[in-house]
Amino acid sequence: MFVGHLTGIGHAASVQVQSGHSGSVLLGGKSDLDIGHVLGIRKGRKALGVTGTTERKTRYCRRIGYLQWMRLFFSRLTKPTRLMAWPLAAWLSLVAATTMAQTPARFADNMAERTRACMACHGDQGRAGPDGYYPRLAGKPAGYLHNQLRNFAQGRRHYELMARLIDPLTDDYLGEMARYFSSLELPYPAPSASNAITPERLAKGQQLVTQGDASRGLPACTQCHGTRLTGVQANVPGLLGLPLDYLNAQLGAWQTGQRKALAPDCMAEVVKRIPAEDLIAVSSWLARQPLPSDTHPAAQAPQGKPLPQALRCGSAPELHGGKP
Ligand code: HEC
Ligand code: HEC
Repeated sequence: MFVGHLTGIGHAASVQVQSGHSGSVLLGGKSDLDIGHVLGIRKGRKALGVTGTTERKTRYCRRIGYLQWMRLFFSRLTKPTRLMAWPLAAWLSLVAATTMAQTPARFADNMAERTRACMACHGDQGRAGPDGYYPRLAGKPAGYLHNQLRNFAQGRRHYELMARLIDPLTDDYLGEMARYFSSLELPYPAPSASNAITPERLAKGQQLVTQGDASRGLPACTQCHGTRLTGVQANVPGLLGLPLDYLNAQLGAWQTGQRKALAPDCMAEVVKRIPAEDLIAVSSWLARQPLPSDTHPAAQAPQGKPLPQALRCGSAPELHGGKP
């Protein structure tokens, strides 16, 4: 089997993550390439007011992938039903074993299967994790997703567990995964931000997003992220449908140098031109906006004033006339 195949890595990675809000603490983890096939994620959800921990173990074996399905099936049954269901399971296993002995193992060898390890964190089909920390992947521009995978692999963004998962993969394969998640069409949830903020501050946020601040040499966010703020093909992400915590974490990470994009890093310049209290106004306004009816990234950036030289984006050269 091609080592770069995600299944090979997905089922061999044994990880334990404790996630709070925007800070996630790695409790321990090992990644061995023998048959460990457990991806277990333990989440401390105290930050969300949920007591106790939930543990989710996903067993996935490429050859006998039906095991995972059975586990899920059983976990959803009530206890008496579960007892009655075991003979059925035994029978199913027998049938499966017999079938496998006769024919080569059958499994759906497609991207949906191979990216199961990703979905353990990023939600089914990459729709985002439940707590605003694991970002949505579905429908984001493919070039943007590909650039992010490179950023994690090459140390411009940091999340060790993910970096380890993608480390052995070729750049072509990262691109293939990026295109897969980009092609998924999923509805967005309604905006849910409810942090305390005055209408005046929200109006300030809106003004910065839609008009920028000429006195600071700051273009409107819409100039790069698209008039509808749904992003621009192929390298600029949308800014709507993102949870407030995620927006704050990312803008904060650019401020502190924890997140970088390919140089020249225009977003690092953008956040430098916005005072901290206005950044919160911006994220609070963005996280309150419903998505427009067309949520797809725009085909190209709005034509208008050229971007200042200091705000060129290495990850999206097409924004200033360069080749993508
Ligand atoms: C252990 C949990 C975990 C797993 C498994 C995981 N990710 Fe992630 N991923 C994260 C977290 C957390 C972030 C956000 C980190 C941050 O705040 O910068 C992230 C960010 C990303 C981003 C950037 C998204 C954006 O909008 O900027 C991409 C793309 C991505 N992951 C793809 C993948 C793919 C593809 C896989 C499977 C190979 C994967 N991830 C597996 C936790 C995970
Ligand atoms: C000069 C063009 C430009 C301007 C202006 C700009 N951005 Fe960006 N932004 C980008 C590019 C390019 C990326 C992708 C960076 C990368 O590849 O990591 C990005 C990424 C982001 C992200 C990361 C999204 C995610 O899913 O992780 C956020 C958040 C963001 N921008 C917010 C803003 C806000 C808010 C403004 C206005 C105050 C703004 N940007 C103005 C070009 C721009």
